[in-house]
Amino acid sequence: MEAVVVRDLTKVYGKDKKIAVDGVSFSVSQGEIFGLIGPDGAGKTSIFRMMTTLLLPDGGSVMVDGLDVVKGYKQIRQRIGYMPGRFSLYQDLSVEENLNFFATVFNTTIEENYHLIKDIYVQIEPFKKRRAGKLSGGMKQKLALCCALIHKPTVLFLDEPTTGVDPVSRKEFWEMLKQLKEQNIAIIVSTPYMDEAILCDRIALIQDGKILSVDTPENIIKSYPTPLYAIKADQMHLLLKVLQQSDKVLSSYAFGEYAHVSFKEADANLDAIKNYFESKGITGIELKATRVTIEDSFINLLKN
Ligand SMILES: Nc1ncnc2c1ncn2[C@@H]1O[C@H](COP(=O)(O)OP(=O)(O)OP(=O)(O)O)[C@@H](O)[C@H]1O
Ligand SMILES: [Mg+2]
Repeated sequence: MEAVVVRDLTKVYGKDKKIAVDGVSFSVSQGEIFGLIGPDGAGKTSIFRMMTTLLLPDGGSVMVDGLDVVKGYKQIRQRIGYMPGRFSLYQDLSVEENLNFFATVFNTTIEENYHLIKDIYVQIEPFKKRRAGKLSGGMKQKLALCCALIHKPTVLFLDEPTTGVDPVSRKEFWEMLKQLKEQNIAIIVSTPYMDEAILCDRIALIQDGKILSVDTPENIIKSYPTPLYAIKADQMHLLLKVLQQSDKVLSSYAFGEYAHVSFKEADANLDAIKNYFESKGITGIELKATRVTIEDSFINLLKN
């Protein structure tokens, strides 16, 4: 049985009938890390709130652990863990008190499921008397994860868990998710960071409430339609302008210190291209084939 099945899910907000989620479908298996990847306002949080029974769908359905989110919301709430974007902790309670509180709400004890949180909890245990409000971002995130796990959920929902967290803590956090996956927990996680997308087993790329693609990160990268090149020069601004105006160029955009380019002709003649840019007064040109990233795939899907 799939852990989560989302079918034609729709959410419409307010008087102006803004369609925030527009016919979204995907499913997630036990022991899978599934990523919802999309920019601000794409609809990620709305989808999370419907999957976790906190918001009613306007169309379509969601099944969690074989239960419907509308009819079975009470049972679902007992079985899932949810870490909303903004921390759900009680700022005035200590680390220990927060954890005890969540265990009690779910009719369990810290001891009963300690093995699930142990690797994470030992890292914050030295601060167990400290108020949650006084923890660093990375430690708050670890405590929130412990609280979401303490009742041994079958599905874990994490809405932008690493936003605003330092790079080291982000890395540690993904290590922890990998370990949880081994426990056969299904994990659905949203992130705006493209480097985290590749750490998921499968991802859904979302824009304007619609899914552009659902697949493994590897397959999404593989289905990029053309060879991709990275180019830089002394005059980046001019270079980008020339790229945009050239009829040989299929697409181009700034990418870190380079521009990423794909050409209309499949096997581009790099020397001829270099000469062309030089004739436009551009110097110090470096042009090379480059690897497609998830971000390139996303940009490509967005423009179609
Ligand atoms: N309660 C609401 N009333 C009206 N519009 C809303 C409401 N909640 C969200 N929206 C709108 O629905 C769209 C999707 O919002 P949502 O928060 O689901 O996206 P998101 O992908 O989580 O974005 P973010 O990266 O900002 O967290 C946005 O345009 C947002 O403004
Ligand atoms: Mg959100």
